[in-house]
Amino acid sequence: MNNRIWMSFGLISLVMASSAFAADQAPKLERQLCSVCHGRGGTTSSELFPQLAGEPAPYFINQMKAFRDKSRTEENAKRFMWGISSRLSDDDIQQLAAFYEAQSPVHLGKISDQAKYDLGRRIFTEGHAEKGVPPCKVCHGEKGEGKEATPRLGGQHEEYLKRQLKVFYGNERPAATAMHEVVKGLSEEDIEAIAQYLQAQ
Ligand code: HEC
Ligand code: HEC
Repeated sequence: MNNRIWMSFGLISLVMASSAFAADQAPKLERQLCSVCHGRGGTTSSELFPQLAGEPAPYFINQMKAFRDKSRTEENAKRFMWGISSRLSDDDIQQLAAFYEAQSPVHLGKISDQAKYDLGRRIFTEGHAEKGVPPCKVCHGEKGEGKEATPRLGGQHEEYLKRQLKVFYGNERPAATAMHEVVKGLSEEDIEAIAQYLQAQ
């Protein structure tokens, strides 16, 4: 009798240990597959790689699946993300999304041009009514903190932000239907200003 009770305890802890192991794949995947480019914990000073720390999980999952099914097709997506995403299961993606969402986002606070920053803040918070540009904060949050399927923009690298805003003029991110409309009223100067404002958040 006693033996049987101990045996079932043993079985339960075995099951618990293996599910704890399965739930703990994200830090290992991150370290082995992602941190070389995105930095440990999803924070990097390299302008080539987007910051991932604090990215809302639903947005993260959508992007990983768009890389994996090859529907996000800009040059750097193909070059850097298509291959690696094809090695991940849905479960891996889910766990990585939860991992990155839980990391503290960076606040670079770097303002290199005050006039640009002020223009960027104005467009981000008030929009450009006469050019049909809505205030970005309505979807992305006051300081670009992001929510659900809408990405965090605050603290993101200026170069990455500028590149993506230009990508939305074409159709290399077909899932971004809202953004295709938003960028129509933005000039090159507006894009520079918005990127300056956001990276400083
Ligand atoms: C060889 C470098 C490299 C590696 C390794 C890499 N990435 Fe990326 N990743 C990039 C680059 C570059 C981009 C930007 C692509 C673009 O501009 O379209 C990117 C974009 C992303 C994005 C989209 C971010 C956004 O704001 O839309 C996510 C999410 C992402 N990577 C997650 C990961 C995860 C998770 C791993 C590990 C499994 C990983 N990456 C490994 C280089 C890399
Ligand atoms: C109606 C809601 C909405 C508005 C308004 C909006 N956005 Fe977005 N934005 C989104 C969504 C949703 C995405 C994610 C699209 C996807 O899944 O590819 C996005 C993506 C982006 C990205 C890509 C981020 C990344 O990590 O790759 C940038 C940059 C961006 N928006 C900037 C802006 C700016 C600047 C404005 C204002 C001029 C703005 N957005 C207004 C909803 C919005």
